[in-house]
Amino acid sequence: MTLILAIDTSCDDTSVAVTRDLAVLSCKVRSQMELHEAFGGIVPEEASRAHGEAIDRVAAAALAEAGISVAELDLVAATNGPGLLGSLLVGLNYGRGLALAAGIPFYAANHMLGHVFSPFLAGDGFSPPLPAVTLTVSGGHTLIGLLDPDLRHRYHGSTIDDAAGEIIDKLGRRLGHPYPAGPHVDAEALTGNPKAVRFPRPLRGEPAFDFSFSGLKTAFLRELERAPLPADPALAAARRADLFASLMAAIADCLLDRIARLAKEAGARACLFAGGVAASGFLRRFMAEHLPRHGVEPRFPDRAHCTDNAAMIAACAYFRARHRTFEESFADLSADAFAQFDFEAGAEG
Ligand code: KG4
Ligand code: ZN
Repeated sequence: MTLILAIDTSCDDTSVAVTRDLAVLSCKVRSQMELHEAFGGIVPEEASRAHGEAIDRVAAAALAEAGISVAELDLVAATNGPGLLGSLLVGLNYGRGLALAAGIPFYAANHMLGHVFSPFLAGDGFSPPLPAVTLTVSGGHTLIGLLDPDLRHRYHGSTIDDAAGEIIDKLGRRLGHPYPAGPHVDAEALTGNPKAVRFPRPLRGEPAFDFSFSGLKTAFLRELERAPLPADPALAAARRADLFASLMAAIADCLLDRIARLAKEAGARACLFAGGVAASGFLRRFMAEHLPRHGVEPRFPDRAHCTDNAAMIAACAYFRARHRTFEESFADLSADAFAQFDFEAGAEG
């Protein structure tokens, strides 16, 4: 049994979680949304200052809710990239200091790999057949990969332009939703007809596993120009729902195509979803309906673990660093704002 305290300060949320192995005892997320709204966007210096002010309180709250003292912890983990450099350093330094003071190992985790492991956090002993396809869909990333039987992870494709969440946010905003528009677009899409408009499915049938969504954005805007929303409120609502349902269906269809193909090639029978867009009810319904036909079981994280959170960093540490020693953790204080993945080497960054 490993008691883990994990920290994620990669962007504009200060998050601290405490887990017992993969069971989440607490997961606190303090949003900086209001702060950045005042500036009309994320100001990196403001973000790191806000993390610095919040981190100690958020950590104390996470420990209190878990009913765990620092002396009981076995391991501390924190995100070292990708993210905003100044923000990452706050979480890393705090976590490292805590580990040093407690005399326990520290582990620096890759944020994207944290997302990959988030479906394991349900605390139900979930153990998918491996290899499994992984799909991380967020505001900034659309990544497909494979989790091997030895729990090594390797990326096989990504978007070559916009991320799926990015176009959902942009088009939702175009129709009047506040940022992030994803949850609102999703709610409308669930009531619409996904076959109302036939949007393109870019790169479908191509040999690679990459995605492209910018053409879909253009097609949506063109359709809106061709047939603007009706003035009648009830008709407008129905048309919006159809447009969003058709958009979500096009995105989901592209994801399905790459998932099914990679699963077939690798002999995978499960797909692990992650990232903010994995909270989408439309996507969940679509995948539950279509993936089993390809012999693939979809698995989604709890909604709270789709968007950025520290519990997924604990899950990553659980799989990667359970048996590491205090000495082994000494070199882990480097942060890389651009840490990503290296397709050529298949490295995790
Ligand atoms: O992973 P995430 O919290 O942040 C990063 O981008 O790293 O993902 C945020 C994205 C946003 O684009 C947001 O609109 C989208 O996830 N999102 C959703 C839903 N909840 C959040 N998209 C569709 N349906 C949702 N329910
Ligand atoms: Zn993220």
